[in-house]
Amino acid sequence: MIRREFIKQGVLGGGALMLGSYTQLSAYGNKQPQRGIFIDQDLPIPPLAEYKRVASKKEFSLETKEGTKSFFENTSTKTFGVNGDFLGPTIKVNNGDEIKIDVKNSLNEDTSMHWHGLHVEGKDDGGPHQLINPYRTWSPEFKIDQRACTAWYHPHQMDRTGYQVYMGVSGFFLIDDESSKNLPHEYGIDDIPLVIQDRRFDNSGELEYILSMHDKMMGMRGDTFLINGAIAPTFKAKKELVRFRILNGSNARIYALGFHNGMEFDVVGSDGGLFQKPQRTSKILLSPGERIEIVVRFEKNQEIALFDYISRSSLMKVATKNLEKSPYLPEEIAEPFEIVGSKDEKIRYFDLSMRRGAGLINNKKMDMSRIDEEVELGKSEIWRIRSNQRMMMRMPHPFHMHGCSFLILRRDGRPIYSFEKGAKDTVLIGSGEVADVRVIFHKKADRDNPYMYHCHNLEHKELGMMGQFTVG
Ligand code: C2O
Ligand code: CU
Ligand code: CU
Repeated sequence: MIRREFIKQGVLGGGALMLGSYTQLSAYGNKQPQRGIFIDQDLPIPPLAEYKRVASKKEFSLETKEGTKSFFENTSTKTFGVNGDFLGPTIKVNNGDEIKIDVKNSLNEDTSMHWHGLHVEGKDDGGPHQLINPYRTWSPEFKIDQRACTAWYHPHQMDRTGYQVYMGVSGFFLIDDESSKNLPHEYGIDDIPLVIQDRRFDNSGELEYILSMHDKMMGMRGDTFLINGAIAPTFKAKKELVRFRILNGSNARIYALGFHNGMEFDVVGSDGGLFQKPQRTSKILLSPGERIEIVVRFEKNQEIALFDYISRSSLMKVATKNLEKSPYLPEEIAEPFEIVGSKDEKIRYFDLSMRRGAGLINNKKMDMSRIDEEVELGKSEIWRIRSNQRMMMRMPHPFHMHGCSFLILRRDGRPIYSFEKGAKDTVLIGSGEVADVRVIFHKKADRDNPYMYHCHNLEHKELGMMGQFTVG
């Protein structure tokens, strides 16, 4: 069914969505020859961020800095990273934890650190108003107050977000609760974070960022895929059941993910948390900023590729030998995620378009000194988001809102897929599509520290496709 749905929708560039028999494990999409041989390696697992316990708080420290990394043999590439050379450690906390995070900026430029998917107040959200100047430290403190989910962190400075993320600044932010124990939950063993990113390298192995008008208008896409910062790595499964927490951490590329052999798996969660019940499928669509959690059952002596059906590329190899037995996946995983609609629900309209090289929402370009919407705390609303196709540039926009989880109610265009029916904070709006989402905000954001909504194509965001709102 999903196969048909995928083919029906034109947003992803029709012909690219061929789902034929692509069984050659050797046919990696990653074009290695020009730049030398990429380093063949096991899947790197981002280390868990360490913390100090101070009274009732867990205190983490992150430091953004420049680095170098070898993606190809005998080549070193200039990068940015967090506490390391490329990407950052995984922050793993429990619902209810009180935390403090020191974010030190050791880059030579301003940055900020946003907790994408977290329900925290505007002042702790890490958007463009919480700028961190070079060699300064920003130390938000907050309490984790939401269901188990896979969130992430990344910079959110006004016009260098795309560049800084591209260079390597981002990491996972995992929240657990009792329900996550219904799933494989041994970090790095059977609970595996996977961040998928695409990059372009020049002949000397340096990262290339925005070289053309096309890169700027469509968003920066690369021809080389990285999983946890490695090109086509191999994951060696040790247990039958493996949970992958997949993040599309790319600037602009959308993936249709599955396995090269078409095998089925269970989707167990989306952006904002775990599902009530597993959803069986063989393909999922993931746009920038979105997360999905899947559980896969492997057999011994397998070789399978995690595959992108849009670019027709193998992203990662999974190799199994002998596998430790795993229990069955329970039929119920977590409480359902619900937002009860209040009566006289307010409807807000968001019209996304591109014009004369600017990204617009309701015909306005982002302005840090303008508050676009004022939302009432604790009252549900409908946000109707439309990607305007009358404009010259027809393209999909992954629309993201800070400070909340929402439910997608309907979408004119494509159906709402089973893997989009849980708690979300980012929704893909195809060209000409309209989606209604029901949202409720439980945390405040004032005029000095408003929340953002924006297209998560980071280049679109930087062209101005972003707005600000208060919650109070
Ligand atoms: Cu992932 Cu406003 O960001
Ligand atoms: Cu966000
Ligand atoms: Cu966009």
